[in-house]
Amino acid sequence: MEPQHVDADIEKVILTEDDIQSRLAEMAAEIERDYEGRELLLVGVLKGAVMVMADLSRHLSRHVEIDWMDVSSYGSGTRSSGVVRIIKDLDADITGRHVLVVEDIIDTGLTLSWLISNLRSRGPASVEICTVLRKPEAAKTDVDVKYVGFDIPNSFVVGYGLDFAERYRNLRVVATLAPHMYT
Ligand code: IMP
Ligand code: MG
Repeated sequence: MEPQHVDADIEKVILTEDDIQSRLAEMAAEIERDYEGRELLLVGVLKGAVMVMADLSRHLSRHVEIDWMDVSSYGSGTRSSGVVRIIKDLDADITGRHVLVVEDIIDTGLTLSWLISNLRSRGPASVEICTVLRKPEAAKTDVDVKYVGFDIPNSFVVGYGLDFAERYRNLRVVATLAPHMYT
């Protein structure tokens, strides 16, 4: 069956639009406090972070700059390959700058731990991480995440930027997929 309506493939909504937006507002307030008096560069990781970048940055009333990186660690399936490569690098030189990496989800943290050490090697003033979602596995890595939206159970989710085979990124909610979608 070729789904015409994204919603038809959902099993369970984990986070509503309201859940996400009110949490992002709280996180933005925290970020504003923490970075007061300092310039801030938000670095989004494509493609999943597009939604959170758009919403989080608009919850901020202070000046920020926005830049993007695209790194690849997943194929079109649901398992991490652990292999990271840069598909698109930053436009900005981050030397001496305060960088906040904005992520959709941290699962194994493999991608992020690689990314963080890559960014650190460029001589920024600071590098911190902000993610909407975090899975239990992430706790096992040495990656220190400063801002976490929600800790979620270890199941595959889609929506709010997250995809399955490049679909479902445009869902306004975070949801699990109906089992028939995997097969
Ligand atoms: P990690 O390296 O295992 O932390 O994986 C990070 C990337 O895997 C994320 O940026 C997502 O693109 C993808 N990912 C991990 N878990 C999920 C999920 O539940 N749904 C969709 N994508 C996921
Ligand atoms: Mg993905």
